[in-house]
Amino acid sequence: GAAELGPYRHYMQKEIFEQPRAIADTLEGVQSIVPELFGDGAYSVFKEIDSVLILACGTSYYSGCTAKYWLEGIAKIPTQVEIASEYRYRESVPNPRTLVVTISQSGETADTLAALRHARELGMEHTLTVCNVGTSAMVRECKLAYITRAGAEIGVASTKAFTTQLAGLFLLTLALAQVKGRITESQEAAHLKAMRHLPAALTAVLALEPQIIGWAEQFAGKENALFLGRGLHYPIALEGALKLKEITYIHAEAYAAGELKHGPLALVTSQMPVVTVAPNDTLLEKLKSNMQEVRARGGVLYVLADADTRIESEDGIHVIRMPEHYGPLSPLLHVVPLQLLAYHTACARGTDVDKPRNLAKSVTVE
Ligand code: G6P
Repeated sequence: GAAELGPYRHYMQKEIFEQPRAIADTLEGVQSIVPELFGDGAYSVFKEIDSVLILACGTSYYSGCTAKYWLEGIAKIPTQVEIASEYRYRESVPNPRTLVVTISQSGETADTLAALRHARELGMEHTLTVCNVGTSAMVRECKLAYITRAGAEIGVASTKAFTTQLAGLFLLTLALAQVKGRITESQEAAHLKAMRHLPAALTAVLALEPQIIGWAEQFAGKENALFLGRGLHYPIALEGALKLKEITYIHAEAYAAGELKHGPLALVTSQMPVVTVAPNDTLLEKLKSNMQEVRARGGVLYVLADADTRIESEDGIHVIRMPEHYGPLSPLLHVVPLQLLAYHTACARGTDVDKPRNLAKSVTVE
């Protein structure tokens, strides 16, 4: 009720602003990186496995897509991410040395549970879940678990569950990297330090809200939007587009920025805002040429620029700069303005933010 909402208009807004606390709580028990953060027997499982298979649905699937970049880039472990409803019905090649990782806010999503059971039937016994509900079927059925501490999430569009999943998946990456000898103690300490600073970094990003409201006023009248990202931020572009679809009913699509020329550029007109999750300077030149292609077709760019980029706002290019550059953990920060953009655009359109039409918080039947 209204008392629980405090100063917020909707649960979604409250949950977006709870993220610094949710991340702090999720990391609370973490004194150092040890496999046992994931349960008894984690060390021998991590020693044994040679690859990771991530299974999830919806927003949880996008946190898995982000984790793939970490698991391959930092822990050097071959990683596959698959939509649970696809995996459960296709013929795949099982590898008993794979760590099967399910990701779920509720721990009750029917397709994700069925995909887990399918993997086990195929002989894959090394199972781990990153889940927000400790008493859920998912946690009961997996050998290992990391319980995120987002707290109850009421808004149908997932926000704090996503960022806490990312925190849990980053810890998993570090624990696997440690067991596999792919990380030094000082690298590990630096990553952990960056994780501990996340609540403060998230608070600084939340302060961008007034600028995002300015963007949302312009999005409210649109019927289509395109989101572009590269690398680690490609799944964040996908998640940004999903948030916008779910609660504003604006048709939104996300593309890897390098694919712009291979299709979506044909859709760009002055009526099509293009949100770009901009990486740091190494990919800036490529991004600038993408932006010129969009501008040449009258498209208007909304650039979420990393702190160390030098892109400036100009005609047809709106830039919001992130407060600080955050390396591999930067997806946790970049997603927040996209959550706020969807939220404020929905408010401007007058949709039912916390209960969007046709969608359920937890899909427990197929
Ligand atoms: C539904 C919810 C989404 C969620 C997805 C997966 O579609 O509306 O917010 O991401 O289910 O749910 P899970 O509980 O497994 O993370």
